[in-house]
Amino acid sequence: MSSLDASAIRRPLSECTRAKLESLELFGEIESTNTYLMSQPPPAAGLCRVAIADHQTSGRGRHNRSWLSHPGDGLCLSLAYTFEKAPEHLPALTLALGVGVVGALQGLNVPGCRLKWPNDIVARDGKLGGILTEVQPGRGDSVTIVAGIGINIFFREHADFGTESGWAQRAIGLDSIADELPSHELLAGTMIENLYVAVSDFEVSGLDGFRDAWRQHDWLLGREVIVDMVDQEICGIAAGVDIDGALLVDTAEGSTRVISGSIVLPESAGAKQ
Ligand code: BTN
Repeated sequence: MSSLDASAIRRPLSECTRAKLESLELFGEIESTNTYLMSQPPPAAGLCRVAIADHQTSGRGRHNRSWLSHPGDGLCLSLAYTFEKAPEHLPALTLALGVGVVGALQGLNVPGCRLKWPNDIVARDGKLGGILTEVQPGRGDSVTIVAGIGINIFFREHADFGTESGWAQRAIGLDSIADELPSHELLAGTMIENLYVAVSDFEVSGLDGFRDAWRQHDWLLGREVIVDMVDQEICGIAAGVDIDGALLVDTAEGSTRVISGSIVLPESAGAKQ
């Protein structure tokens, strides 16, 4: 059984989001909240389903990495949403959700959170959390997304970030950033509110309305980066994001668009696994 109180999680929700929340399920322990929602019937178009766990036994991150946290030490939350018609540039949704996550943290007086393309939440140059967005085609033109958010609340030194690239081994928890830690429920409720608003705004206008905010929070902007794209590696200066969510990198050959890849900073390239 979960240690969380569902009514306290619903408290920060706006009336609109409450009305759109088809289900809120809390688990003490589960394999992965993303895996769970991906296996469930999709919510009706325009509605969302949320699953939250105190502990995941097989939490997953991007690129098949594992996401590990001790019971109760992190927020493990997934939100499923059905788009009646698949939006253009769906991969950019992760960026819009990132803006929503940072907005939620700012609203809870957690200072200095940034975004590292495409899915990392960064604070004090360490990994505070991440987003895993998965897509399931539905009937006709519809598509359901499951967005999983992991946030370190308490970070213990021995937490294992597995095969993350070098920079991310500098993980960090809210406990060392926030003057006053929000309750797990307030964090979860505020996150649901911001994620729902982000996903429904994205449905209307794509990444357009999020690009200014992304630029403000963009941790990579102006940094020298190495992009590992499996078959090739490019080096250059990160220069923001395109309307479809691609990372722009200024290289010696000109501007390059990166659709998928792992970003490594030159100073941590040796630590990359
Ligand atoms: C990443 O940094 O690569 C993404 C991490 C996402 C972790 C969250 S925790 C809740 C949800 N369930 C999962 O198995 N993964 C996401």
